[in-house]
Amino acid sequence: MFKKILGTILCAAIACAALTGCAGSGKKKVGVSMPTQDLQRWNQDGAYMKEKFEAAGYEVDLQYAGNKPDTQLSQVENMINSGCKVLVIAAIESSSLSQALDKAAKKKIPVIAYDRLIMDNANVDYYATFDNYKVGQIQGNFVKEKLDLDNAAGPFNVEFTAGDPGDNNAKFFFNGAMDVLKPYIDAGKIVVVSGQTDFDSVATPEWASATAQARAENIIGSNYADKNIDAWVCSNDSTAQGVVTALDARYNSAGRDGQWPVITGQDCDIVSVKNMIAGKQTMSVFKDTRTLAARTVTMVNQILEGKEVETNNTYNNNVKDVASFLCDPVFADKDKIQEILIDSGYYTAAELGL
Ligand code: BGC
Repeated sequence: MFKKILGTILCAAIACAALTGCAGSGKKKVGVSMPTQDLQRWNQDGAYMKEKFEAAGYEVDLQYAGNKPDTQLSQVENMINSGCKVLVIAAIESSSLSQALDKAAKKKIPVIAYDRLIMDNANVDYYATFDNYKVGQIQGNFVKEKLDLDNAAGPFNVEFTAGDPGDNNAKFFFNGAMDVLKPYIDAGKIVVVSGQTDFDSVATPEWASATAQARAENIIGSNYADKNIDAWVCSNDSTAQGVVTALDARYNSAGRDGQWPVITGQDCDIVSVKNMIAGKQTMSVFKDTRTLAARTVTMVNQILEGKEVETNNTYNNNVKDVASFLCDPVFADKDKIQEILIDSGYYTAAELGL
């Protein structure tokens, strides 16, 4: 009997969810699809969006897909079926989402690509992100200045680690840095001892720290027995963390000359900020997830109120120019932590172990 009543309640709840999104309150529902909870930033993106959307009077269906494209597809399809009025999607990879986007378009549900552009589909309405190419330029210019490439004799040994090939951002970051550093490679001022300079060779599936670590261990073992590494250009913090672990185990502790390479990153993850404080990561790029979440809420408001949606750029996704809003990434190193991360309330000093 109890089971039967429970079953009836569950069925009613499922039917209600399927038909109306259970927005009995009359609130409009926004579907927010995030790639993974493994990386700190996506947890923050999701939490800030939930908070800001709810404060603006929306109901939020926030889902994480465990970095599995199939899971993300079914989560987005559920959002469409359960009455979401707008979809905000940070895609794991583009192609698997295309049938969901087509379905959304049929139901006239606008789609905002969040942080990562969804490629090869006409049904992407807007894109909210940070200037991804500029992130790479900030990293490349930092290495250029740190090694004083225009004045020092060199040559300097530099390695590269990039992101997930399925993430459209990854090439922008890599190219932004490579475009700054390539002239010095061509001139022989920078030597990439591993010989791995093209995106495919240096990419890191799923941006996984363990994968970046394994590749770094390999490179160090095969190429650096009798050489220093002057810089390691990592596209983000999760890959930088893998490289730092590899360097810790195989390079410094092997009793080399104690010189620690310049290491770049992106996101200002807590682990990486702590590594910056410890001198193991040299810089990161701060992309304030509060700013991106707030911009996305503004976009959704403008869409649903039928107002003109404010954008400041376009990104081509191979099918169309997607109207985009690019937020500004900010350079961060050890000296900037207090001002940009603590004073702004992003982290407490205690969270950073200070
Ligand atoms: C984001 C980065 C992040 C990376 C790994 C990229 O698309 O722009 O901020 O570090 O994904 O999650």
